[in-house]
Amino acid sequence: MAERVEHSNNPIEILKAKSQMGAAYPKRCMSDSDWTDFERKCMVRALEVAQQGVGQVSPNPPVGCVLARDGEIIAEGWHDHLGDLHAEQAAIADAEARGVATQGATAFVTLEPCNHHGRTPPCTEALLWAGINRVVIAAEDVNPTVRGGGIACLKRAGIEVAQGLLEAEAREQMRAFMHWCERRRPIVILKAALDCNGNVDSTEGDPARFTSEESLDKVHQLRRECDAVLVGVNTVIRDDPKLTVRRVDLGKGHQPLRVVLDRRLRTPVNSEMVVDEEETLVLHCEGEGTSLECETILMPPLFSSSDEGVDLVQLLDLLGDREIQRLLVEGGPDVWARFLSDDLVDEAYIFHSNIDLGKGLRGGITSKILEDAGLIISSSDVVGVDRLEHWKRA
Ligand SMILES: NC(=O)c1ccc[n+]([C@@H]2O[C@H](COP(=O)([O-])OP(=O)(O)OC[C@H]3O[C@@H](n4cnc5c(N)ncnc54)[C@H](OP(=O)(O)O)[C@@H]3O)[C@@H](O)[C@H]2O)c1
Repeated sequence: MAERVEHSNNPIEILKAKSQMGAAYPKRCMSDSDWTDFERKCMVRALEVAQQGVGQVSPNPPVGCVLARDGEIIAEGWHDHLGDLHAEQAAIADAEARGVATQGATAFVTLEPCNHHGRTPPCTEALLWAGINRVVIAAEDVNPTVRGGGIACLKRAGIEVAQGLLEAEAREQMRAFMHWCERRRPIVILKAALDCNGNVDSTEGDPARFTSEESLDKVHQLRRECDAVLVGVNTVIRDDPKLTVRRVDLGKGHQPLRVVLDRRLRTPVNSEMVVDEEETLVLHCEGEGTSLECETILMPPLFSSSDEGVDLVQLLDLLGDREIQRLLVEGGPDVWARFLSDDLVDEAYIFHSNIDLGKGLRGGITSKILEDAGLIISSSDVVGVDRLEHWKRA
C-alpha cells in the first residue's frame, strides 16, 4: 500500500485518530446510518490517499479511490499530478498491477467520477470497462462540466450509486476547488510571523529571520499547497524574498506564481523575484513602460482613486481567471490589514516567536483583529520553539 503523507490540520488524520480512539464519526455521517463500518473504512482510506495529490494537481481537486470486494480492499489510487491518471483510473491500474480482477467490485471515490473528456478520458468509462457494479461517492462534483453528469451516466449504465459517505470531510479536503468552482476566485490564506511584542521586523538593523527552522518548513509547505503567493512592494524592497518552495519537496507540483501589489511601480528591477526563472506578476495602478523583466498589469481600481491601490476583489477575480485556487498572502502589515479589513481572509497561520526584535515594525495582527475579520481560532500548536495559531472563517 502507498505511504501516507503527513499533513497538519488534516481532516483525515483527525478522523483516523478519532476512529482509533473509538470515538464517534462526525454527526452528519452518523445520521447516514446506512453506512457500514467497512464502507467508512474504505472511504477514510480513499480520503487518505487523496491527500497525496494536495499541492500537485491544482486546478484539479485531490481525489482518492479504493476498490473493494467481499469485505476487503483490493486496490487504491489517487490523482497524483496534473495530466496523470484520475483516482478511479489509478485504482483500476493498481488492481491490474496486482493481478486482481475488478469485476463486481465496489469503488469508493471521494468525488463524483467525471464523464467528459478533459486531460484524461472519462472516469465513468473506466469504471464501466472495469466491471465495477457499485460506486460510493463522498461528494458530488460542483464543476459545471460534471455536476451530477457522472452519477447519471453510471446509473444509466445500471451501476448502483450511493453518495454522501464522509461528504463533509471530502468537501473540506477539496475546499479550494469547490470554492473556485462556485465563485471563480481563490481562497485567501494569510501567513504572518510575529516576535514576542507583535512586531514583524526590526526598524534598526538589517532584516533577520526570527522564527524556527520548523516554522520555516511549515511556510514552505504552505507555499507548496498554494497556487500563488502575494506580498506588498515594501516587503520586496526590504527583504528581496524569493517566495519559492525550497525547503520541502515540490514533487511534480509547480512553483507558485509570485504576485506583488505595487501601486506606483517601485519594485526594483534587480529583485530576486524579477530576475529569477520563476513567474512573477506585478500589479500597479500608476506608471507605464516599466523595464521590469516580469509580467506587469496596470490595474487602476474601477470605483475609487488610484491612491487606494488595486481593488482586492478585482485582484481575486483576475487570479481566479488564471485558475489560482489558493492564494497565500505573506505580507507585510499594510497588505494584511487591507485583506483583513475587506473580510477577504479565509484562513490565517500566525507564527508567534519568543524572540524580541527590539525596536520594531508592528504587525497589526491581534486576536481581536482576526475575530473582527470573521475568523475563529481552530488550533494552537508548538512548532519548533514557536507557537503556531491556525485561524479559520467562522
Ligand atoms: N514577519 C513577517 O511575517 C513579515 C512578512 C512580510 C513582510 N514583513 C515585513 O513587513 C515590512 C513591510 O511591510 P509594510 O506594511 O511596510 O508594506 P507591505 O505590506 O510589504 O507593502 C505595502 C505597499 O504595497 C503597496 N500596496 C499595498 N496594497 C496595494 C494595493 N491594493 N494595490 C497596489 N499597491 C498596494 C503600497 O505601495 P505604495 O506605498 O507605493 O502605495 C503599500 O505601501 C518589511 O519590514 C518586511 O520585512 C514581515
